[in-house]
Amino acid sequence: MSAIIVIGTQWGDEGKGKIVDYLAEKSDVVVRYQGGNNAGHTVVVGGNEFKLHLLPSGILYSGKTCVVGNGVVIDPAVMLKELKDMQQKGIDTSGLKVSNRAHVIMPYHRLLDEVEEEHRGDNKIGTTKRGIGPCYMDKNARTGIRIVDLMDEAEFSEKLARNLEAKNHLLKAVYETEGFDYEQMKEEYLNYAEQLRPYVADTAVVINEALKAKKNVLFEGAQATLLDLDHGTYPYVTSSHPIGGGACIGAGVGPTKINKVIGVVKAYSTRVGEGPFPTELHDEIGSTIREKGFEYGTTTGRPRRCGWIDACVIRYAGYVSGLDYMAITRLDILDSLKTLKICTGYKYKGELLNEFPASLKILGQVEPVYEELPGWEKSISDIRRYDDLPVNARRYVERLSEVTGIETGIVSVGPRRDQTIILH
Ligand code: GTP
Repeated sequence: MSAIIVIGTQWGDEGKGKIVDYLAEKSDVVVRYQGGNNAGHTVVVGGNEFKLHLLPSGILYSGKTCVVGNGVVIDPAVMLKELKDMQQKGIDTSGLKVSNRAHVIMPYHRLLDEVEEEHRGDNKIGTTKRGIGPCYMDKNARTGIRIVDLMDEAEFSEKLARNLEAKNHLLKAVYETEGFDYEQMKEEYLNYAEQLRPYVADTAVVINEALKAKKNVLFEGAQATLLDLDHGTYPYVTSSHPIGGGACIGAGVGPTKINKVIGVVKAYSTRVGEGPFPTELHDEIGSTIREKGFEYGTTTGRPRRCGWIDACVIRYAGYVSGLDYMAITRLDILDSLKTLKICTGYKYKGELLNEFPASLKILGQVEPVYEELPGWEKSISDIRRYDDLPVNARRYVERLSEVTGIETGIVSVGPRRDQTIILH
């Protein structure tokens, strides 16, 4: 029996999808525990590329139980479309279980996401405008609508009426926007309810029963440590908890049941949108990484900011998630570089800072302290054994483990399942 959590250690887009997909093969149950359809894993199977937003990556293997946990916020239309797309590609979706305690994204959440972001002017937080933030706001305000409510027409009708009255008032009074029609929304969502009903379950029970039966359970994090509501670069964060502990809350399992937490570490850093990024590269090396790694936003197409790997970030992720080991991805993207740098600490007002600061003001002013290592300057994509990696690639990986204090368990050298090197 094993219960493994996989999380992103940086700002997201580390390649969690591939690592989760790889580990999913040996798992019986695969669980999403936070976020919503603002995540976007890309998994390559048998030459086909699958983009998953809401469904756990385990869906690509038949015979797995795939759980969308209570910590996830669900846009029913998006979930049903993703299910239909999978079914059309011949994927068996019968193992899907959707938590009855998960919250439902409503059309007013999407609209509020949009108008609130517009009203932020120069202080935009970079929301994906899919209603995720406003849905979590209602969850915390204790006015949200859960899947269990959606399954009960009377309960849903009453909660929708109450919510819609408040939201329509807000939209009109504050944002001068037209509100929504109650009957139309009720009909639309009750229709979704019938399509989702076969999948709805008490998923904490499903997962705990599986653990009791000595099954392997994999918890797949979306987003990443620096986007965590508490531990990330606030306010440029998401509304949920992508760190290790988030899995316990968002799936309904106790911390004593978790055996391992794996942090996915991209071999360099990227960041989307605004906010301080100490190791950012504004030169040709940054462009080379962006082009070779095709570092452009999946939905927006916006170029991602690229930079050297930051060991302070990984160490920090190690603390807040209790990482057992790193899965280093996209090492192959660095193939052509002559020299590589690892940021081992920061200089701030002449002092050395070893830890990742809470203040974004300080983070914006720190100067990275780098250690230089020679590159390997050859392709590693076809290598399958750690010992066959060029000595400089091994040195880079080993040095990263030394400066972060976290062992390396997996090295990924390409997007395909087989382009994976297992260390332990
Ligand atoms: P978010 O949950 O949105 O943060 O995404 P993610 O961390 O799951 O990243 P995603 O899988 O969307 O993007 C990573 C991209 O890198 C995908 O296209 C993967 O196929 C690809 N990828 C993963 N690992 C490797 C690798 O080792 N080398 C290369 N070249 N590509 C990789």
